[in-house]
Amino acid sequence: MDIKGKIYNDFLNRIERFKVQNGPDKIRKQHAKGKLHARERITLLFDKNSFEELDAFVTSATPDTGFGKIDSAFGDGVVIGHGRVNGRLVYVYSQDFTVMGGSLGAVHAKKIVKVQELALKVGAPIIGLIDSGGARIQEGVASLSGYTSIFHNNVRSSGVIPQISVILGPAAGGAVYSPALTDFVFMAKNTSYMFLTGPNVVKEVLNEEVTFDELGGEETHARKSGVANFIYEDEENAILGVRKLLSFFPSNNLENPPYVERISKKEKNVEKLRDIVPDDANKPYDVKKVIELIADQDSFFEVSELFAPNIVVGFARLNGKAVGIIANQPKVLAGVIDINSSLKGARFVRFCDAFNIPIITLEDVPGFLPGLDQEHNGIIKHGAKLLFAFSEATVPKVTVILRKAYGGAFCVMNSKNIGGDYNFAWPTAEIAVMGPEGAVSILYRKELEKAEDPKKLKKEFAAKYRHEVANPYIADEKGYIDEVIDPADTRWKLITAFETLENKHVDQPERKHGNMPL
Ligand code: HXC
Repeated sequence: MDIKGKIYNDFLNRIERFKVQNGPDKIRKQHAKGKLHARERITLLFDKNSFEELDAFVTSATPDTGFGKIDSAFGDGVVIGHGRVNGRLVYVYSQDFTVMGGSLGAVHAKKIVKVQELALKVGAPIIGLIDSGGARIQEGVASLSGYTSIFHNNVRSSGVIPQISVILGPAAGGAVYSPALTDFVFMAKNTSYMFLTGPNVVKEVLNEEVTFDELGGEETHARKSGVANFIYEDEENAILGVRKLLSFFPSNNLENPPYVERISKKEKNVEKLRDIVPDDANKPYDVKKVIELIADQDSFFEVSELFAPNIVVGFARLNGKAVGIIANQPKVLAGVIDINSSLKGARFVRFCDAFNIPIITLEDVPGFLPGLDQEHNGIIKHGAKLLFAFSEATVPKVTVILRKAYGGAFCVMNSKNIGGDYNFAWPTAEIAVMGPEGAVSILYRKELEKAEDPKKLKKEFAAKYRHEVANPYIADEKGYIDEVIDPADTRWKLITAFETLENKHVDQPERKHGNMPL
C-alpha cells in the first residue's frame, strides 16, 4: 500500500472506530427506555441528508480532579452541526446519553459554545436536543465553567436568533438552565424530566419522598411550573413539532417570518363568528372557536396549552403570514387575568416583538383575579409584566374586543393608549371601569340597602348599566377604539389592518434597556 493509501486507510479506520464506540449495548439500552440515539434524533429534525457534523473526532478532556474515571470518547457525548429545516439553515447540538450519561464536561461544553457562536454569527436558529445528567462530576469546575459559557451565549442570542430546547431524557442540574433561557421548551411524555436537584437530594435535604415524574415530569412542567411549552407523546412527534414551530419564525431578528402558501383559498364561513358570543353575558364560550374562524385553515399552533389556560397564546397564519395570537379564554375562570396568565402572555408578546411577528389580541376579560393569594404572590408586579410587554412591543398590534373589557384589563390588553394600532370591538363588547354587578353595588349601595328585593333591583340596575354605560359605542364615539365591527368582517379587517402596517416604524427613546418589573 502506498503512503496515500495508508493515510486514507487510517482515516477510514477512525471513522469505523467512531461509529462503534458506544457499542450496540448502550444504544439498545437507550432504545429500551423508549428513547432514540442522539444521531437518530438529528436525522428526524433535518431535511433528508442535509446534516453536516462538526467536531466529531474531538476527544474528552482528562480531568485534573483525579476523582472517578473518564471514558475518553470521540465527540465527548454531544453531536453538533448544522442542517436544513424546510430548506432553511438551523444549528443543532444533540447530547448523547450513551456517553457518560450525556454529562457536560469541558470539551462537550466547548462544542455547544461553538455552534451557539456560529448560529449567532450567521443569524440562524439553534436547537438543543437535551439528554444529560448535568455537570460531569469528574471534571469539577471545568464543567461549571462550560455551563456558564453556554448560559452566557443563550442570553447574548436571546431576541437575536430563535433558540429551542427539546428535553428527551434527563435534564438534571446545570442542564436545566440553558433551556430556561431559551425561547421554547419541548418535552416528550414518559422519558423526559427536568429538575435542579433530583429525588435523592430532596429526600436527603427535606426528607420528602418524590418521584421523578412529580418533581420534574412533562405534566409537572406543562401544567404547574410552565417551564415546558409543548409536550408530545413521543420523541418523533416532539421533533416534528419543532419543525412546525420553526415554520412561523424568521431566521433572526432582522428578517421577517416566511410567507407560507395558504392550504385552502376557500373563504371560511365567517358568519358563524356572529353566533359565538352567547346572549347571556355571564355564559362562557371557547375563544379557540373564534381563532379557528379568523386564522387560515388549520394554521393555529398553540403554545403552553396546559399552563394558565385562562389565556390562550399561539402562532397562526393570516392570509399566509405568521401572526401571534393572544386571547382571553372565557371558558376558564371567565378569562380572568392572574399571575400565571400574565407571565404566559407577557413572555409570548415579547417573543413576537423580538422576531417581527405581528400580534392579534382577542379580548374578553372581566378583570384581574382578586384575593389574598394573588395579592400576596405579587399580582401587582406580575400583571405589570403583561402591561410592560404590550406597551414595549413595536410590531403591528391589533385588538378585537369580543365582549368584556373591564378595568385594568382593558388597559393591559393592548389598548390604544399602550400602542394598539387598530382597536376594534364587536357589538357585544362591554367596556367600562368595572363589571355591572360591582359597579351598581358601589353606585347604588344606599338604594340597594333600602330595597324590598335588593337582588331584583341589583339585576335591574346592572342591566341598565350594561346597556347604557358598558357598550362599545361610547368608546367608539370618543375615539378610545377605532371601530365597532360586524364579527363576520373580523378576518378581513385584520388582514387589511396588517397590510397597512407592513412598514410600521416606531422611534423609541434611547436607552440601554427598560427595567421590566421582574
Ligand atoms: C458524570 C454521570 C453523570 C454526571 C450520569 N452519569 N450523570 N457521569 N457526571 N453528572 C453517568 C453514570 O455514572 C452512568 O455511567 C451513566 O452516566 C448513565 O447514568 P445512570 O445513572 O446509569 O442512568 P439512569 O439510571 O438513567 O439515571 C440518569 C440520572 C442519574 C437520573 C441522570 O445518572 C443521575 O442522577 N445523575 C446525576 C444527576 C445530577 O445530580 N446532576 C447534577 C450535577 S450538578 P456508567 O459508566 O455507569 O454508564 C450540576 C450543577 C451545575 O449540574 C450547575 C450549573 C448552574
